[in-house]
Amino acid sequence: MLFSPYPKTKREELFDRERELKELEEAVKRGERLILLLGLRRLGKSSLLNVALNELTYPSIKVDVRKTYSEFSSVNRYVIGKMLLSGMSGRKKLVEEAKLFLERVKGVSVSGLKLEITSKDFSITELLEALNEYGEKAGRVIIAFDEAQYLRFGGATRYDGILAYAIDNLENLTFILTGSEVGLLFDFLKFDNPEAPLFGRYHHDVILDRFSPEISTEFLRKGFEEANFKVSRREIEGAVGELDGIPGWLALYGYMRVTRDLGHEEAMNEVLREAKSLVQTELSRLFAYSPRYRVILKAVALGYSRWKDIKDYLTLKLGYINDSNFSKLLENLVKSGYVEKKEGKYTIPDPVLQKVFREL
Ligand SMILES: Nc1ncnc2c1ncn2[C@@H]1O[C@H](COP(=O)(O)OP(=O)(O)OP(=O)(O)O)[C@@H](O)[C@H]1O
Ligand SMILES: [Mg+2]
Repeated sequence: MLFSPYPKTKREELFDRERELKELEEAVKRGERLILLLGLRRLGKSSLLNVALNELTYPSIKVDVRKTYSEFSSVNRYVIGKMLLSGMSGRKKLVEEAKLFLERVKGVSVSGLKLEITSKDFSITELLEALNEYGEKAGRVIIAFDEAQYLRFGGATRYDGILAYAIDNLENLTFILTGSEVGLLFDFLKFDNPEAPLFGRYHHDVILDRFSPEISTEFLRKGFEEANFKVSRREIEGAVGELDGIPGWLALYGYMRVTRDLGHEEAMNEVLREAKSLVQTELSRLFAYSPRYRVILKAVALGYSRWKDIKDYLTLKLGYINDSNFSKLLENLVKSGYVEKKEGKYTIPDPVLQKVFREL
């Protein structure tokens, strides 16, 4: 179903995105070792990644790093190792073919189709080396880290160093990293820092943008048609105007109308309600860190777009802050994708979130 509110896994459920899918799949087939899939929240990165991994014939392992971090509050080597192994466990063909190589990794046990870490000696690098050997046989192994910016919380496990080693030496591995917090992802990977392990490494970037108004209209039309649900042209135009080409919101709007038989306004309100609760979970950590983030987001959402005006608003609400501290907070919001900076002006790129932030 086009409107299903979960990441898609099959091409038939994925609307448009043929170009991006082709670009991603061809980069893998060319043997590129590091591919980044970038785009704001809810544009469909996980969906595109799932579909590509499903279609490509190479074995692949995917780890949702954001989910892993929120579950374990850590992404140290045991945690990520565990996720990589559980991503393979139970997959008959893969485990049987890779068994020979995986058994040799210190601290990993293979029993039946189950893979586990059994001792403290476990090393991610050794696991990757084993997968590389398997990749030689299988043609290539794809390792995907969804929301890879969370790998920066590895503590003593330095994933940038591990990635650099793998990219330089393990030619049968392809890493696909997705990131919605693009600035944070680049902060973590540090391609521009001569002191950093990944300095100057080539990476192929696939960038997801929002749908154009035409594509958004077509998406809604097709979704409603598929569900045999009648809507007026004016309602579709209204939704396209308000949701600004963000597939996640468009799909949710359609899903609400179709499954709960809601009218246009009601469905819009539901989207807004959902956005509010998402913001609470997504941003609670940030707000706990500094209450100023909340006020800055509110200022930008209300239309204060210049550095000075946002700072004045913040000062009025929460008192004095020095320039450099303020700049840092604002910059962090830009890096996380919640705020966009264009030609010196700050805006909220997601119109639904803008509405939510206005009420913060
Ligand atoms: N091209 C598409 N066709 C149909 N549905 C889509 C498409 N892109 C995204 N969606 C829908 O939008 C929602 C968000 O998609 P997805 O989770 O893949 O995005 P994401 O970029 O990974 O988001 P996040 O940053 O929150 O992880 C899902 O409900 C998904 O089904
Ligand atoms: Mg995702």
